[in-house]
Amino acid sequence: MTRSLGTYPIKSFDDFRNVAQLYQYSRAILTALELDLFTAIGARTRPIAALARRLRADQRGLDILCRNLAALGLLVKRGSSYGNTPLVRTELNRRSPAYRGAYLDLITNHWHDFTQLTDSVRSGKPLDADEPESPVWRRSFTWAMHHRSREQAQTVARFLDLRRARTLLDLGGGPGTYAMAFLSANPALRTTVADRPAALKVAREIAATHPAKARLSFAPLDFMSDPLPGNYDVVWLSNIIHIYAPAQNVGLFRKIYKALTPGGRLLIHDAFLTDRQGLYPIDTTAFALTMLLFTDTGNTYASRDVMRWLRKAGYRHVRLLTGMGKRKDGENALIEGRR
Ligand SMILES: C[S@@+](CC[C@H](N)C(=O)[O-])C[C@H]1O[C@@H](n2cnc3c(N)ncnc32)[C@H](O)[C@@H]1O
Repeated sequence: MTRSLGTYPIKSFDDFRNVAQLYQYSRAILTALELDLFTAIGARTRPIAALARRLRADQRGLDILCRNLAALGLLVKRGSSYGNTPLVRTELNRRSPAYRGAYLDLITNHWHDFTQLTDSVRSGKPLDADEPESPVWRRSFTWAMHHRSREQAQTVARFLDLRRARTLLDLGGGPGTYAMAFLSANPALRTTVADRPAALKVAREIAATHPAKARLSFAPLDFMSDPLPGNYDVVWLSNIIHIYAPAQNVGLFRKIYKALTPGGRLLIHDAFLTDRQGLYPIDTTAFALTMLLFTDTGNTYASRDVMRWLRKAGYRHVRLLTGMGKRKDGENALIEGRR
């Protein structure tokens, strides 16, 4: 019995076949999301016949799907009944407050986008190269960022010591999830979320019920072409640098430098590559494919290179912050530079 899907580096034809067909598992999960199967199961264990009636699906089809989801560890099989695991009951269940709906929609939509990867590899251009940015897309993407980052924002806010800081700029802050977590953890802090107007609309909606909303302000801008407003003790740059090319990032770091108070900190939060060849962690390498599909110049970068860019832009005391998670770089890692 094989329990592992992780057959890379590929060494045999069997390994190759396993990895080349991993889409079967992706597709099974996305079909479950499209059927809203996890919500239909909810907190109970349900017989397959009842589930099939409820979802108006063929019983054999649904059973094959559920067996696969159980083999993946998403469902628990008891005879011919299925229940949700705790993860699924909360984060994948529409009726739970922890539901990550907008992020799940983003992942589901990527299925179609990834079928066009060959075109992007050939052209080097994103899928929507000729289309202007749509406010509707930006709105759903911004909600997706919120549903992705809620817990990570709490983790970062607990980890970072911002007691000496009075002002923080969340640059490209999208829904403002991180800015709001910093406000909750630091009663003396004031934060500004800077982003495109359509993203800030979502941030304003989320902030409306936040207890510290009086200490939060918004700056609609394009940070590549507009000046940065004000001076800040901290600039928080989360999941931004992978959208841009190295030279653009160095330019942005220089611009941020001028917006920092003396001794102020630029904190970069992103997924970094960790090895000399730029291959691992493999999920960070895979994320570069998403950047190819959706950005003109984006990519994923090694922490070592990003630290070098910071020094080039004039920052001192450049370092990788350790201690937040298991891995010191890779996804959700932090690099700091000081003015
Ligand atoms: C991947 S999201 C990250 C959102 C948030 N910082 C987080 O970590 O969850 C990137 C954000 O940067 C914003 N952004 C990218 N380039 C920008 C630019 N040139 N001017 C303003 N905002 C920009 C996008 O609108 C989006 O909200």
